[in-house]
Amino acid sequence: TATLTLNADEALDRFGHHMEREIDAQPAMLADALSQRGAVPTLETLLSGDDGVAELAGIRAITLIASGSSHHAALTARYWLEARVGIPTLVELASEFRYRDVALLPGTLVIAISQSGETADTVASLRFARQLGATLTLAISNAADSTLMRQARWHLATNAGPEIAVTSTKTFTAQLLMLYQLALGLARLHGRLDADAEATARDRLAELPLRAHAVLSLKPLVDDWARTIAQAQALFCVGRHGNYPVVLEGAQKIREVAYLGAEGHAGGELKHGPLAVVDRNLPVVACLPWNRLAEKMLANLQEVRARQGRIYVFTDAALPSDDRMNVIRMPASLGDLDPLLYTLAFQLLAYRIALHRGTSIDTPRYLAKTVLTE
Ligand code: G6P
Repeated sequence: TATLTLNADEALDRFGHHMEREIDAQPAMLADALSQRGAVPTLETLLSGDDGVAELAGIRAITLIASGSSHHAALTARYWLEARVGIPTLVELASEFRYRDVALLPGTLVIAISQSGETADTVASLRFARQLGATLTLAISNAADSTLMRQARWHLATNAGPEIAVTSTKTFTAQLLMLYQLALGLARLHGRLDADAEATARDRLAELPLRAHAVLSLKPLVDDWARTIAQAQALFCVGRHGNYPVVLEGAQKIREVAYLGAEGHAGGELKHGPLAVVDRNLPVVACLPWNRLAEKMLANLQEVRARQGRIYVFTDAALPSDDRMNVIRMPASLGDLDPLLYTLAFQLLAYRIALHRGTSIDTPRYLAKTVLTE
């Protein structure tokens, strides 16, 4: 629309690309979302569309359905939902779900996630779930009046504002924050959010915008990595646990905007095949917040080192850099909110690699913002 074009032109003043501007907007966007909704809102405050929120106390399973980056947000949310709500959670690719002979457990909360709210497969999957008898349906979208939102009983609008670059950045982190808050709300409804857990979550959320800002200030260091990585033919991104989806999304960003063959892998899976292609030409970028799986992840990286892979590590631990391992020191861990911080680091990396490779960053080849066809 005319308004969007005008805003787009105005907004570019300080930035080379809309992608850069949208990456940069995230700390403020997260702060705004938290001040508008509160850190741990009740489900009644969070969900719009239907009054019967109490019904969600009886859910027996959760199925998340999405495509592309929204699917990575869903994969991240599974860690939060299972840990905090204690309900079995499935994550589905919309393009597969809609054609499967799906066995849907009665009492399943079906959550469809789509930045645009128009992705054909996701819209069709939600319709399909309703045909299968799902009555507890929730849509999460950045487009409040989209087709997806109209089909669901409850809605969550991510309110990230218009995203002009084709590749998603701020709409992805807005989805993550919304899903985290949804997990907290469901946990409370299910009697699983005690005062300590709530206080910890509040502290983490309060810290999030500043730490997000601190990640973005690492841009010059990330650019040093990007200059070298831009010469490579392929790249691995590795992570574990809640940060495994972070590297799937990180690799996706790098493929989309830098046209570089990036693969995301779970650290523990490297030995089951991926190590076969590791050699001195392969950069391996690791997401290593210092948590209970960090030592295991370090052991996984030793396997990469043994095969001469070039290792790049985002970590909040005081690990020394050496000639085969480059370390960027991240702000202190936010526990289960780390996926938000580390996502920003990978977005910066993707953007800077793309800059060095001279690609069409805001309108990458073969990519559409909204996919209305199958
Ligand atoms: C397109 C976009 C991706 C997006 C995917 C799903 O391929 O280019 O960035 O992740 O669609 O879009 P949605 O609007 O459903 O989140």
